[in-house]
Amino acid sequence: MVNQKTSVRDLVARKSTGPKIVTVTAYDATFARLFDAAGVDIILIGDSLGMVVQGHENTLPVTLDEMIYHGRAVARARPRAHLVVDLPFMSYQISVESAVAAAGRVLKESGCEAVKLEGGAAILPQVSACVAAGIPVMGHLGLTPQSVHVFGGFHVQGRSSADQDRLVSDAQSLERAGAYAMVLEGIPSELAARITQTVRIPTIGIFAGPHCDGQVLVCYDMLGLQPELKFRFVKRYAELGQQAIDATRDFVDEVRSGQFPDESHSVARQNGS
Ligand code: KIV
Repeated sequence: MVNQKTSVRDLVARKSTGPKIVTVTAYDATFARLFDAAGVDIILIGDSLGMVVQGHENTLPVTLDEMIYHGRAVARARPRAHLVVDLPFMSYQISVESAVAAAGRVLKESGCEAVKLEGGAAILPQVSACVAAGIPVMGHLGLTPQSVHVFGGFHVQGRSSADQDRLVSDAQSLERAGAYAMVLEGIPSELAARITQTVRIPTIGIFAGPHCDGQVLVCYDMLGLQPELKFRFVKRYAELGQQAIDATRDFVDEVRSGQFPDESHSVARQNGS
């Protein structure tokens, strides 16, 4: 069967035709293959990898080289899903030139197809310039994790009516600047609905209620890979973290008791050797 790559055009068309766009993060080829087999539309190589893969407290330390490294690993799986890479903190905020250079490196070196930038009015020139250079841009508004220190923590955004009006205006500006979709993170459900009705490009929600044109989850959260973390807004679709602990405990016990390896898991003796 032909591997029909999901394109920006396919995704934008889904705004009016549906079905909802399903996005999940991945950081390596194995998970990319699994999620593609499950039929997701977009794989996001999120800078959340700074927290779930690298063990940092937030996404700020992640570098452009690291994003490209993980993007390349995911792209090697050759998924049908559309591949988006986060531009990391300080790779695009400083200037339009730095943004186009960073986004250009991502597309040239990782083999992925689009970049995601966090922010509204402040980064519109960067968005326009990337799009003009032929680089598809996904926006990201609301609880944008790269601004964690401005927010004073990972707190829900858009509660006051002034903030809500600003976020609606940012969403409209992102659309005008040429973004083909946008993530809405950590905002009230009614605000996500208002933005979704206002713009003609798809909105992809995370902790933003059911009214967006699609949803995204961080794969480590979705699969319960960090059993010690419990987030109110995350739905876990598996408990792979606990399964990994249980499986590893069985391995430890069997090695110590001499149960593993038995003859069936050992190399057979060759004739005469
Ligand atoms: O980095 C990431 O995983 C993200 C998602 C939470 C949208 O930006």
